[in-house]
Amino acid sequence: MSPRPLRLALAGATGAVGRAVLEVLEDQEPSFASLKALSSGRSAGGTVSFRGDDLRVEEARAGSFRGCDLALLAVPAEAARQLGPLARAEGCLVVDASAAWRDDPEVPLCLPEVNPDAVAGLGRGIAAVPCGLAAALALVLRPIRDAAGLAAVSAVALESVSGAGRRGIEQLEAEALALMNGQEPAPPTAIPYRIAFNVVPDGGARGAAGGAGDAEQRLCADLAALLGAGPRVSATVARVPVFYGHAAAVSLSTARPLPAAEARELLRHAEGVKVVDQPAERLYPMPMLSVNDDAVHAGRIREDPTRANGLELFLSVDNLRRGGATSLVGLARLLARRHLTK
Ligand SMILES: NC(=O)c1ccc[n+]([C@@H]2O[C@H](COP(=O)([O-])OP(=O)(O)OC[C@H]3O[C@@H](n4cnc5c(N)ncnc54)[C@H](OP(=O)(O)O)[C@@H]3O)[C@@H](O)[C@H]2O)c1
Repeated sequence: MSPRPLRLALAGATGAVGRAVLEVLEDQEPSFASLKALSSGRSAGGTVSFRGDDLRVEEARAGSFRGCDLALLAVPAEAARQLGPLARAEGCLVVDASAAWRDDPEVPLCLPEVNPDAVAGLGRGIAAVPCGLAAALALVLRPIRDAAGLAAVSAVALESVSGAGRRGIEQLEAEALALMNGQEPAPPTAIPYRIAFNVVPDGGARGAAGGAGDAEQRLCADLAALLGAGPRVSATVARVPVFYGHAAAVSLSTARPLPAAEARELLRHAEGVKVVDQPAERLYPMPMLSVNDDAVHAGRIREDPTRANGLELFLSVDNLRRGGATSLVGLARLLARRHLTK
């Protein structure tokens, strides 16, 4: 991660993204000096499994970050707003997976593969990763933009229940079990309606004047921050009854003509992207194929005859690992290299 072994703290170690962070650290980071696992008071005292051992979980509170170099936050935004400044005051640089800091002009929004120079200055000592689907879209769209310019992007995002964290997973499990046993499911807890055998086009609670929900605005804003001003972006977000892995149907217009075959070839060489595009053999991106993969899967790449320079494609991504954990660990690695080398 950096020339000297770092002392890490992971807040949210018991959550859906936190557990994926532990897996990514196991797979990608052989050398760091220590790892402290933190949660809220609810899970404190329990353990998480790490490198074949049980790692004790402590409650995140004053003093928790002392003696650490880097704090990785995989907690809800309200908790990140408290823990970020606390970790800073106790001497850590902070990387955050939540939306708490993404609109703060002093906090860089950075996906290391796309805009690493965003963290050259680190005003508050905090950096944020984009939401998972914005990260996936940016990895796929950047090479297309570089080759042919991007005029407009429109995405229909199909988000799995783990995008709503552990509680989303528990809701689908409980509802599916009840319905398969001929029982009425309990009232929903994490997603506004029953999600088992249903699709819920809930773009987030606070709607903008134009009607987009906050998750849809978040996706567009994060994507614009990563790709720079230029393409017009719109999104529709729907929750689907899938446990792990998001997908998106993407329609885009390039500034200059880009045949589908060329786009496919570009994506074959793009960092963080795997082309899965042999429809004749029934091979295309699906959430179940993306789980545990650090690459975004892109396929069904074809020209759109209804628009000038129009392309259509479909992507899938492991929302917890690639969409959260891989970005967070990659950003921690980047900060360590650039700001913690002494
Ligand atoms: N899920 C995704 O696909 C995804 C992808 C990218 C980014 N994110 C972002 O990542 C963050 C975590 O999401 P998640 O899906 O992992 O949620 P989650 O499954 O609900 O886990 C939340 C974690 O945060 C901990 N926590 C909650 N309040 C806390 C507090 N006040 N102090 C310390 N720890 C606290 C929880 O601890 P307890 O076990 O004690 O409750 C748990 O470990 C969110 O900001 C989310 O927006 C999520």
